[in-house]
Amino acid sequence: MNELMEDLSPETARQQLVEHLTAKGWITHPEVAAAFSTVPRHEFAPAGTSVRAAYADDTVITVRTPDGATTSSISAPWLQAHMLETARLRPGGRVLEIGSGGYNAALIAELVGPAGTVVSVDIDAQVIANAQAALARTGYGQVVEAICADGENGYPGGGPYDAILVTVECSDIPPAWIEQLAPEGLLVAPVRMRANTRCLTLRRRGDHLVAIAARQCGFVPMQGAGHDPVRRTPLLGNDIVLTIDDPSTTADAEALAAALHTPRVEVWSPVTARIDEGGAFESIHLWLASQPRPYGALTVDRSRVGDLLDPDNRFVCPTLLAGDSFAHLTLRRHEQSSYQFGAHGFGPGGAAPAAELADLIVAWDQHHRHGSGPGITVHPVGAPLPATDDLQLLLPRRHSQVAITWPGGGR
Ligand SMILES: C[S@@+](CC[C@H](N)C(=O)[O-])C[C@H]1O[C@@H](n2cnc3c(N)ncnc32)[C@H](O)[C@@H]1O
Repeated sequence: MNELMEDLSPETARQQLVEHLTAKGWITHPEVAAAFSTVPRHEFAPAGTSVRAAYADDTVITVRTPDGATTSSISAPWLQAHMLETARLRPGGRVLEIGSGGYNAALIAELVGPAGTVVSVDIDAQVIANAQAALARTGYGQVVEAICADGENGYPGGGPYDAILVTVECSDIPPAWIEQLAPEGLLVAPVRMRANTRCLTLRRRGDHLVAIAARQCGFVPMQGAGHDPVRRTPLLGNDIVLTIDDPSTTADAEALAAALHTPRVEVWSPVTARIDEGGAFESIHLWLASQPRPYGALTVDRSRVGDLLDPDNRFVCPTLLAGDSFAHLTLRRHEQSSYQFGAHGFGPGGAAPAAELADLIVAWDQHHRHGSGPGITVHPVGAPLPATDDLQLLLPRRHSQVAITWPGGGR
């Protein structure tokens, strides 16, 4: 960190952060701006964190396992702002935060005011001890109740809640969260759907929940009773890994690893996107993941595999699986600032999933790219699902089924 950066005062850094979040559209409400202007984020960061790092629009890692995996962090300000804005917190509101650290709980405390209730639970006793110390230091010790508990069970003592904010990645919605939510309450949770995580803002409709907002994001995975890791299949050590995130898909690791050594089949669609058109990538990834067919996501260390695989690897690379063959989404530069979508197929039958992928890109472009996006609903296991002719993927989990429905044809 250079000296100029260290010269930045926390107050100035805080104001700059608020201006940045407002300019980017993450903050639209003055109350949320006031909360970010007030809570000293650097006080919740580990000792030695520079002011600049504490107030960057980025995650601050707070806990790692001995092998380097992150298990706790202060979330990125843009994502915190998004969650707080969509949760519509009001003075006097009752809020449960699942996944703690103290900073976000203090922001919530600012928004619900002295008449509100903030309960913040974390499964890691050290995270809670650190959060309690920082909350006490910054004047929120009496306002936020920070408790060590498995958030899978919510926290029944403080409900019903007007909002439950889950700040840890989950694949399922356990019954406790729905039971503890007030009738008009909002549940904001990063839900993983076939390796695509979307921060869903969910509200009750009859026996199920409906997403009224969905935003691509990343969080550390849930520990405890709700721990549900993705299945990782290394195809070339850890340099090429196939991730599978639904029980109905299986992968023949040996055959798919062998497929990597077959000639690549290229199919290019006529569809292009500007690289700054973030929503297009978010949308096409979920569209491909929603297809009711075997599906996985590739992560590739491009510095180590050279030209072998050339995926569109923004976050995850959508991949259609076909027995001993597969095809993944790819991009090539089209003009100065735009890219063309295509498919690369591998394996003895790689041409078929590559052609299918290219057709799906065209269908997305024609029917869904400029639409309102998919409907995402969460239904208790065993509850009847509404009939539909639209494309729909069901993800069965332990407690709930997540349904992703793309209205308007183009299957
Ligand atoms: C991204 S951090 C939370 C960030 C925090 N909300 C903040 O102020 O920015 C995610 C936290 O979730 C916690 N966690 C993981 N599984 C949990 C569970 N089952 N119940 C409660 N907390 C959990 C982790 O220990 C970690 O501290």
